[in-house]
Amino acid sequence: MSENFLPTESYKGVRDFYPKDMAIQRYIFNSWSKTAEIFGFEKYDASILEPADLYKAKGAENEEMVNQQTYTFIDRGEREVTLRPEMTPTVARLVAGKRRELNFPLRWYSIPNLFRYERPQRGRLREHWQLNCDIFGADHFTADVELIALAYQTLIDFGATPDMFEIRLNNRKILSADFARGAQKYGVDLKDEQILKISRLIDRIEKINPSDFEKQMVDILGNDEFSKYLLERLTSDMDDEVIHKTEEFEDLKFVYDGLINLGIKNIKVDLSLMRGFDYYTGTIFEIFDKHPGGTKRAMLGGGRYDNLTAMFSSDKISGVGFGMGDVTMRDFLETHNLLPAKINTAPELMIIPLETKFNLEGEKIAQIFRQREIKTAVDISENKLSKKISDASLSGVPYVMVIGEDELSSLTFSLKNLSLGTTESGSIDTLLNHLTTHF
Ligand code: HAM
Repeated sequence: MSENFLPTESYKGVRDFYPKDMAIQRYIFNSWSKTAEIFGFEKYDASILEPADLYKAKGAENEEMVNQQTYTFIDRGEREVTLRPEMTPTVARLVAGKRRELNFPLRWYSIPNLFRYERPQRGRLREHWQLNCDIFGADHFTADVELIALAYQTLIDFGATPDMFEIRLNNRKILSADFARGAQKYGVDLKDEQILKISRLIDRIEKINPSDFEKQMVDILGNDEFSKYLLERLTSDMDDEVIHKTEEFEDLKFVYDGLINLGIKNIKVDLSLMRGFDYYTGTIFEIFDKHPGGTKRAMLGGGRYDNLTAMFSSDKISGVGFGMGDVTMRDFLETHNLLPAKINTAPELMIIPLETKFNLEGEKIAQIFRQREIKTAVDISENKLSKKISDASLSGVPYVMVIGEDELSSLTFSLKNLSLGTTESGSIDTLLNHLTTHF
């Protein structure tokens, strides 16, 4: 009746983390946390469940996200609930909720799991984790520089070199000014709805072929000249000279120069960089893998948002931050061969009872080692001694201790180093001291 069994596969687009994958996940999270904390960021967290209204409110609203990508359901109390698709509205809620008690500026980080109903593909799944780092209550552009420097450092701390990735930088104000200037020049009464549509189109610029892009742009604007003007702006080559030449790039220039000052040079100013969220108001940035075989999708995205806490109160608190995904992070580390060859998750010591009747004695001895923080397990399988030893060796256990009648009556035990083949004998105390000097 095997057809009645449930499948063992996970739900579409989410991952199971068997210990080997979990070890890699933990390696990535530990490194992320370490870098964020080195920059003075404090960790926060919240529930994955949020009231659906949080994503519908003006300011947080993102049409595609809310209508097509959220997991939303009605709970047993008739409340509409969403599994968070991103952390930014949540952290804005937390900050706004305690705005009178908190000491600004805040530097906060979190590694939440997020749910988006997307078509599963390379670099995009339905559940992912994201390192979120945000600074609240700092209006000066130094916050933008610091955030991008932190994003850069997360990659460097995995052993990446600057030539492996590219930071793309833009500022939302430039495009807004272009819209206004073009509208005036070509006599177009540009509506908010058109701006939104154009912004969405620009966000997909790399996914659409140029002639289709141009056609869609003309369709939205209803004016060839205006479209041509915008297209030229979006695709203009932004070298050092252009950035420094005109005043319209003032804000962008500060951030750009700030990063160069900190020694961060793998930056490309890209006027077509849009970011999918409506809440960004200033600096926006993304990081891309430069390897030809690497993921084509952004590994990280972020920016400055001045109005997100405005949906909770009339107090305005600015924010700037980024999210960096674990799926693209692991892809990047694998593509560039930056993952450690082996992340050992095995215990440091395996106690091997010769017969089942010694299992409990094994557990008692294991407790002594565990109290001294040596990761210890007891092989309570029914396997033969040789199999127990080869299993320990295969799973990467460095030390084994066999216990039987002789050891328990003489209270003299042997500790075998499996990779060197050496043996150390003595009382539990002697062996404990021997091991604690090794770990
Ligand atoms: P985002 O661009 O939607 O920004 O996501 C940031 C990063 O999360 C992406 O660059 C990617 O690495 C990863 N990511 C996004 N969606 C998926 C997915 N479906 N599967 C796997 N990875 C994914 C935000 O979410 C903003 N809230 C970030 C932010 C924080 N802005 C300010 N503070």
